[in-house]
Amino acid sequence: MGSETLTVVDNRTGREYTLPIEDGTIRATDLGQISAVEGDGGLMSYDPAYLNTSSCRSAITYIDGDAGILRYRGYPIEQVAEQATFLETAYLLLEGELPTAPQLAAWEDDIRTHTYVHTNFAKFLDGFRYDAHPMGMLLGAVGALSTFYPDAKQIGDAESRYLQRVRLMAKLPTIAAWVFRHSRGLPFVYPRNDLGYIGNFVNMTFEIGGRHEPNLVLQRSLEILLILHADHEQNCSTSAVRGVGSSNVDPFSAVSAGIAALYGPLHGGANEAVLRMLDEIGDIANVPDFIEHVKGGGGRLMGFGHRVYKSYDPRAKLIKQVADQVFAETGLNPKLEIALELERIALEDEYFVSRKLYPNVDFYSGLIYQAMGYPTDYFTVLFALGRLPGWIAQWEEMLSDPEQKISRPRQTYTGYDVRDVVPIDARG
Ligand code: CMC
Repeated sequence: MGSETLTVVDNRTGREYTLPIEDGTIRATDLGQISAVEGDGGLMSYDPAYLNTSSCRSAITYIDGDAGILRYRGYPIEQVAEQATFLETAYLLLEGELPTAPQLAAWEDDIRTHTYVHTNFAKFLDGFRYDAHPMGMLLGAVGALSTFYPDAKQIGDAESRYLQRVRLMAKLPTIAAWVFRHSRGLPFVYPRNDLGYIGNFVNMTFEIGGRHEPNLVLQRSLEILLILHADHEQNCSTSAVRGVGSSNVDPFSAVSAGIAALYGPLHGGANEAVLRMLDEIGDIANVPDFIEHVKGGGGRLMGFGHRVYKSYDPRAKLIKQVADQVFAETGLNPKLEIALELERIALEDEYFVSRKLYPNVDFYSGLIYQAMGYPTDYFTVLFALGRLPGWIAQWEEMLSDPEQKISRPRQTYTGYDVRDVVPIDARG
């Protein structure tokens, strides 16, 4: 074998093994040949939470966490956010290339044709309690889409996959807006196909009595936020979509699993948690005490830290610029002062510096969403709207990868050895 190999010696047996290295990885299954005693099943790698395991080959998103680089299909996120629309970005992630003008027009047209949901959807959403969390409603509603489109089970058919992709992209804004209206006890507003993707969504959320004055600066800001969230390689929710999708279930069910993963406060739910944290701090004077509380193990500084970024999250940099544009329109969010002070202190503090904890995408996004008029528990729904194209692109990439199989990790069993069931009256 050539130099692209790893030689390991099993000190239990003295045997030497040479394993191929490809793209900076060894195959975990190659470890299976390393065995101490016959029948022990061979060596496994142990990697809880996949800290150092590549689970797939992907050509969609590139991240260099140390350098703070994020690229979609090779394009720097800064250029995509500045020059593309959200639907162009979605096309790029899904098709691999930026669309030409006719391709974009056809893509937009296909989506516009599918913005309506079945009228039973209104009844379905009405079934939720008035105070149901929007993310709970969203994940239930997207799962329910699979019952309206049983043809989505034909995941081996490229044409069917395209149709489901269009349905998801077209209907998620409608469902998300209706979830918002349900929370407020407002009647549902139907899609208006004379409006663009973002304008239609904003109209469905905020229109009252047939009136809504569109603010194009806020709409473009929302669009940039969606672009910044559109994909982030193998994060928790994307891994959930891939993992669930690997059972060959329909894409609505797989995306619903992604929404469930995103709901958690360590993932997409962090933008909501940041606002709750800022409320808890209450005043800029309380920031130093709060930092000490976090350092003492009393909780996490929400919106800080990232599994992959060990420098400033490039999305957070761009979001700060968006914040300036939004606050120029809406007036300053009073909590911004607390956030800026938190960031200032944390970036100088040894605890955060030594752990390479920097603001992530969620640190400022919640403040912007709040200024736009969205309630705190709705922020993660906006994250889901943004992440949708990434989930679908990763799901389709997984399906077309001949090396992928049903996702099924191994385990290291730590429980009892075999024992006999004792009758209930003899148990002590
Ligand atoms: N505040 C205080 N300490 C922290 C934080 C934080 N936000 N994040 C990590 N740490 C500490 C942690 O206690 C540990 O310290 P020690 O070594 O002394 O035990 C060290 O930093 C490493 O933490 P970790 O938990 O091993 O890091 P991880 O890579 O498993 O976690 C994370 C990444 C994002 C879950 C974590 O940083 C976190 O909980 N952040 C707050 C929640 C948040 O903002 N999430 C949004 C992530 S970005 C958007 C998205 O992907 O959804």
